[in-house]
Amino acid sequence: MKALVLSGGSGMRLRPFSHSMAKQLMPIANRPVLEYVLANIRALGVTEIGIIVGDRAQEIIDFAGDGSRFGARVTYIHQERPLGLAHCVLLARPFLGDDDFVMYLGDNMLPQGVADIAEDFAARRPDAQVLVHKVADPRAFGVVELDVEGRVERLVEKPEEPRSDLGLIGVYFFTPAVHEAVASIEPSARGELEITDAVQWLVARGADVRASEYGGYWKDTGRAEDVLDCNRRLLESLEPRIAGEVGADCVVDGAVVVEAGARVVRSRIEGPVIVGADSIIEDSHIGPRTSIGRGCVLRRAGVAGSIVLDNASVSGLAGLHDSIIGRNASVSASARPRLVIGDDARVEIPA
Ligand code: DAU
Repeated sequence: MKALVLSGGSGMRLRPFSHSMAKQLMPIANRPVLEYVLANIRALGVTEIGIIVGDRAQEIIDFAGDGSRFGARVTYIHQERPLGLAHCVLLARPFLGDDDFVMYLGDNMLPQGVADIAEDFAARRPDAQVLVHKVADPRAFGVVELDVEGRVERLVEKPEEPRSDLGLIGVYFFTPAVHEAVASIEPSARGELEITDAVQWLVARGADVRASEYGGYWKDTGRAEDVLDCNRRLLESLEPRIAGEVGADCVVDGAVVVEAGARVVRSRIEGPVIVGADSIIEDSHIGPRTSIGRGCVLRRAGVAGSIVLDNASVSGLAGLHDSIIGRNASVSASARPRLVIGDDARVEIPA
């Protein structure tokens, strides 16, 4: 089996971060989403991985390289414009050949992995096998309707009036039967070749398409709220480790990671919290459920439920919560508030 990871696209819903970084590289518990994706694929024993890249190709290539770091061989496939998930399969045909493959959306987090479903697919080898999960708002996802015996009856991409609450997870198992489907469908109203339509094409022709309800935690990290939710969730299983310096004048509760070169002084760290390498925390209260990147400086700061990206700083400000602070950004207290914020940023301050 091969794998096809989709790491192109525009990341509109993750602005402003996607203005300056590939959304698949957004850190969750200080590791890029794509790292979790590649680890889950390797856990299936798959070593041949094709990665679809778009405008932010170079960042993805800088991160994943030739794949050897992950024990895999990576082939990059360039997509000029985000023309849809099924378009990615069309482009990848030379790489995929006639092998079965798992298609994995590069912004989907499934920390418990997909090994059980991969095994089931290999054993029964239906034409296609999709993963579904009950969702609160199915209008934001591909939606799957099952018949009484649990076979896939209908799939619709982001329907206005969903007829089921089963959302499509971004991990799909395919046999080469999908290639005829992606070559046969037309672009949707939003101008994309939808993988949902390709799977529907298979269903309509009587192909064996199965759906497995995924029992673990799943998050599409396409929006800031989802990134924060996922970060908080992953931190729950953080293994404590102190490699940096924590002063005797500090209080550290719960699971806390302080990476090498980081320094914590006169502060309270309420785990789960990660403090990235070379960061400085002084006179602050950090946590719970917070990750601080590398090279950050937090002085007289109070930050909870949040993500602070590399080289950002926060000073003189308590009570920050559920926030994402971008790379190199600085947030500080001032008697006369002043903002220099980037495009599509969001600020919520007391009225
Ligand atoms: O997360 C699950 C959902 O993912 C499914 O329920 C939907 O059926 C499926 O269409 C997809 O919806 P999204 O709107 O979340 O897809 P998004 O545009 O965010 O793209 C998913 C990933 O694929 C993302 O890493 C970017 C990449 N991509 C996307 C497109 C459209 C590409 O590499 N090329 C593309 O042309």
